[in-house]
Amino acid sequence: MSEKIGIIDSGIGGFTLLNELFSRSYFCQYYYISDNENVPYGTKSQLFMLQRVRLMVNKLKQKKIQTIVIACNTLTAETIEQLREEFHELNFIGIEPYLNYFNKNEICNNKKMALILTEATYKSLRFTKLRKRVDPTQKILTYPLANLASLIEGMESRHCIENLKQEIDTELAFLHSSNIDYLILGCTHYTIIKKYIEKTYDLQTLDPNKEVVDRIVQVAALAKSTDCNSFYYNPNLSHDWQCLSLTNINIFTKLFRTYGN
Ligand code: DGL
Repeated sequence: MSEKIGIIDSGIGGFTLLNELFSRSYFCQYYYISDNENVPYGTKSQLFMLQRVRLMVNKLKQKKIQTIVIACNTLTAETIEQLREEFHELNFIGIEPYLNYFNKNEICNNKKMALILTEATYKSLRFTKLRKRVDPTQKILTYPLANLASLIEGMESRHCIENLKQEIDTELAFLHSSNIDYLILGCTHYTIIKKYIEKTYDLQTLDPNKEVVDRIVQVAALAKSTDCNSFYYNPNLSHDWQCLSLTNINIFTKLFRTYGN
């Protein structure tokens, strides 16, 4: 029997993690659930997020899933502690802004670093504690962004790419003049356009997806396999799960091609 992994995000951001999982070929069934009608979560309250994420966890529980990845920095910041208390029979793996990288890696020592993240993550107690612990002198410049996750979520339906690029640039304009060497992507949606950000602002991006996947493999004891993975998708907390092949998902065929991920 193959393992089952549940993946939760507000919208399409968690696909970046799923993409990393798929590329490593494990014997696994993936169940991806999101709340596309309510994305973005970065502008919502903690209470709202808790109510929505409980519904998503319960949907995954009905599928007898043991390991759930909260593939969303915002939901991790605002809900993971509560979820671990309420659903103690399940394993939760979260994702957090990659501040640890700063201490672990000498290359970054003399470099200018910045972090972008959602407003809710920025204001959360969990992030405040993480920052105090890992970057107490606040060397990493930190920029909460109000609109970037929504722009990325809506990319698929935009006809004029030039307009979209302009809107993205309005959000990220500070990068033109700030001489940042490394930009930490503190929201899984941002990783979708990481190549675009690197080219446009001439910097390197960092995200923890590889480390999070290492952790998933360890917690769920995933085994390698040449068999096809199965992938079930539920974008609106509906009753039905669609069984898809990853190549059928628009964001991979269209967005990743356009933005060169
Ligand atoms: N993808 C999410 C994150 O990593 C949430 C973005 C949002 O819904 O605002 O923070």
